[in-house]
Amino acid sequence: MKINWTNISQQDFLENYWQKQPIVLKHAIPNFIDVISADELAGIAMEEFIDSRLISNSNNQWQVSHGPFEHFEDLPETNWSLLVQGVDNFFASVADLKSLVDFLPKWRIDDVMISFSTKDAGVGAHLDQYDVFIIQGHGKRRWQAGSVDQNLKQSEVSKDLLQLDGFEAIIDEVLEPGDIIYIPPFSPHKGVTIEPCLNYSIGFRAPSAKELMSEFADFALDHDLGNKRYQTNDYYVNPGKLNSSAGSNTSSLLSSNETQALKQMLHSLIDSEDVFDHFINEHLTKPTRELDINEQAITVDELIQTLEQPDTVIRKTLGLRSSSLTTGENILFFCHGEEFLCHPQQIEFIKILENNDKLTEKDLKSFEYWLENIQLVTRLINYGYWFIDNKDNDNGLQDTQG
Ligand code: SIN
Ligand code: CO
Repeated sequence: MKINWTNISQQDFLENYWQKQPIVLKHAIPNFIDVISADELAGIAMEEFIDSRLISNSNNQWQVSHGPFEHFEDLPETNWSLLVQGVDNFFASVADLKSLVDFLPKWRIDDVMISFSTKDAGVGAHLDQYDVFIIQGHGKRRWQAGSVDQNLKQSEVSKDLLQLDGFEAIIDEVLEPGDIIYIPPFSPHKGVTIEPCLNYSIGFRAPSAKELMSEFADFALDHDLGNKRYQTNDYYVNPGKLNSSAGSNTSSLLSSNETQALKQMLHSLIDSEDVFDHFINEHLTKPTRELDINEQAITVDELIQTLEQPDTVIRKTLGLRSSSLTTGENILFFCHGEEFLCHPQQIEFIKILENNDKLTEKDLKSFEYWLENIQLVTRLINYGYWFIDNKDNDNGLQDTQG
């Protein structure tokens, strides 16, 4: 699926709007038909593994309740919405919406959140820290959005619901099926439903230094890195340096040279060959939300036999992130934050695993290193990262086995 650029071009969008200002892309998906029904959305909001919220507003009294929900009876006609995160990890048809933004780097895409809202419903004026493309499904919604402003302050109007007092709208439009509104981080916005509707929000990710630092510390522990301790014989060679606080820093505890040397220890760890590359590939292939993972126990021979049956395919588990890295003699293939050591000659096959969602026996056999490849695929199936399926199940709910 591609965006049908009508009012602006993709280049204009990237130069002038992406991360800078909100815009409505009118008729971005001509003849758009919902890729999930409100009933299916309600059904998945009843599951333990999904993150869902009901937000309602009656006479300016906001209420938030969290799923899983047991039923949706007793809800009024108007003023409530159901919001469900990570629906793309369970519906192939929803995951396909992410191809609309494949002109942006893949790793930046987080999830597809879907909301069903009744007349007059919304979550109020607020800010998000991430870019979002909101696709209008059936129904109609009025969207207002303002200029990016990092200084706007939100307050808690109910537990787990932050809102802004108000903002000056530079966009005020009613969206119809197939229209998209793009909202950059810190652009205040507000949607109010005119006719009951579905909205699909493709959300992006932008790690903070704090997040990376904390994840890097876990990575160093897991891989037993950074054990070398601070060492110096400076005090003997240059006794004058001991506790001297020369330089711009004036700590009385240690000299600025010592501060620098300690800081350098951290820099050297991050800068040492391959360490950061390894870390970042591992980190960014970790799931941000639950996937439908079903572990298996299949042998290489069993897999070879299964693949010989007509119409059998292997399919990538929805939402699985993978990547590869060449380090020295080897290829590291990362899947779901797990690393698989591969032979450099497998690189072409690994790229196919990264970029395709489905493979047949014929595809698998078209690569050199058949044995190594089929061993790798067997491991991926046993981890639940890929699964055996029938080629007819090309759409809909992921066929869970096991
Ligand atoms: C919604 O779909 O109701 C909320 C989306 C948003 O504003 O972030
Ligand atoms: Co928002």
